[in-house]
Amino acid sequence: MGKRSPGAMELAGAVMEIHTHQRRPILRSTFKGLLLLSVLLISISYLFVYKDRLSDYLQSNTSLKQTNPIYRAPLPLEHPNRTFLQHHRAFPRNYHFILDDTDVCRSNTPFLVLVVPVAPGNRKARDAIRKTWGTETLVQGELIQTVFLLGLPSRGNITELQEHVSMENLQYHDLIQSDFIDSYNNLTIKTMVIMDWLATQCPKVSYAMKIDSDMFLNVENLVRMLKSPGIPKELYLTGMLARNPPVIRDRSSKWYVPMETYPDPHYPTYTLGMGYLFSIDLTSRFVEVSKSIEPINIEDAYIGMCMKKLGLSLTQPPDPNQFGRLFHVYNRCTFSKIITYILGSSEQLVTFWTDLKKPGPPC
Ligand SMILES: *[C@@H]1O[C@H](CO)[C@@H](O)[C@H](O)[C@H]1NC(C)=O
Ligand SMILES: *[C@@H]1O[C@H](CO)[C@@H](O)[C@H](O)[C@H]1NC(C)=O
Ligand SMILES: *[C@@H]1O[C@H](CO)[C@@H](O)[C@H](O)[C@H]1NC(C)=O
Ligand SMILES: *[C@@H]1O[C@H](CO)[C@@H](O)[C@H](O)[C@H]1NC(C)=O
Repeated sequence: MGKRSPGAMELAGAVMEIHTHQRRPILRSTFKGLLLLSVLLISISYLFVYKDRLSDYLQSNTSLKQTNPIYRAPLPLEHPNRTFLQHHRAFPRNYHFILDDTDVCRSNTPFLVLVVPVAPGNRKARDAIRKTWGTETLVQGELIQTVFLLGLPSRGNITELQEHVSMENLQYHDLIQSDFIDSYNNLTIKTMVIMDWLATQCPKVSYAMKIDSDMFLNVENLVRMLKSPGIPKELYLTGMLARNPPVIRDRSSKWYVPMETYPDPHYPTYTLGMGYLFSIDLTSRFVEVSKSIEPINIEDAYIGMCMKKLGLSLTQPPDPNQFGRLFHVYNRCTFSKIITYILGSSEQLVTFWTDLKKPGPPC
């Protein structure tokens, strides 16, 4: 653990010295007590300073071991059993829904379903969405519905968190929870569970969108875009396109993917994960084709891999600037024209939304 504590050593020396010079017995015990107390306090503060570094160190070691948690032993590319990969860890039917009592798609057929992957403990983000874009249920005569997709809590008081999630669902009936462990490295499982839920529960809707919980969404503009002439009704996937981006081989990156898992130096073109839209027919195709594609823990690139394997290409949105460009500052006029935008916090979502919805022309 590197550096020693010179202060503590000196104090220990001083304590020894007091042991050897036993001239003033009454003061001696007082001094000894005080010095021992100081040594104790100093040790405790050192422990606090190093605690963070220690846990960082331990975590970095665990994360190295878990760089590829959803995929253990890669089958060779030409292995005859590659089609039996449905037992891999991202295959959605390996998991089961433990909360799924929403009316969405059961009592109605929406035009568009917005699915938000969110951590079980992130109530704040869900509440902000319920107050903002989640309220837009009837837009230009079309029914829009929002649901949240959660895995199992993995940190904190799990029993308590799970109770809160169930209570929250009793109130809103908009949570769908599956029994995989919710973590950053399991996002591909989450996305595939979303695809499976949509394919089985919502086969009649026109479009669906996977949208992150930290996003601003202008639902009016989204619906206008989807209803504009020339937008495909089938085999349609759009969003902010990343064109054949390089695979990150830097082990310290959170997007690191090892050679053994994905040997190509580039990914196929894919839509960035913060918000992508697709026609509903694609969902069952993704689930089906994923049986034969080893998962990587980069969920959006994995969807790109599914598209490639299906022999399909992605579509550029009519106005690419409407998807997730960084403007750095809120501007009412700009926000009235975009579709998605990445935010810094749930508070921002509520503030920007409230401002955008004020009466009066935005520009
Ligand atoms: C990480 O953990 C392994 C055991 O799981 C251990 O042998 C190793 O020393 C640890 N540290 C690093 C830096 O890998
Ligand atoms: C292929 O997979 C099947 C079913 O999972 C298994 O029974 C069989 O032994 C496997 N064959 C090879 C060559 O690994
Ligand atoms: C976890 O929460 C439950 C329910 O609120 C409580 O009974 C239990 O004592 C808590 N456990 C811990 C370790 O805090
Ligand atoms: C991913 O989910 C699986 C299934 O619940 C679990 O076994 C695994 O530990 C999770 N991985 C991480 C990194 O949380």
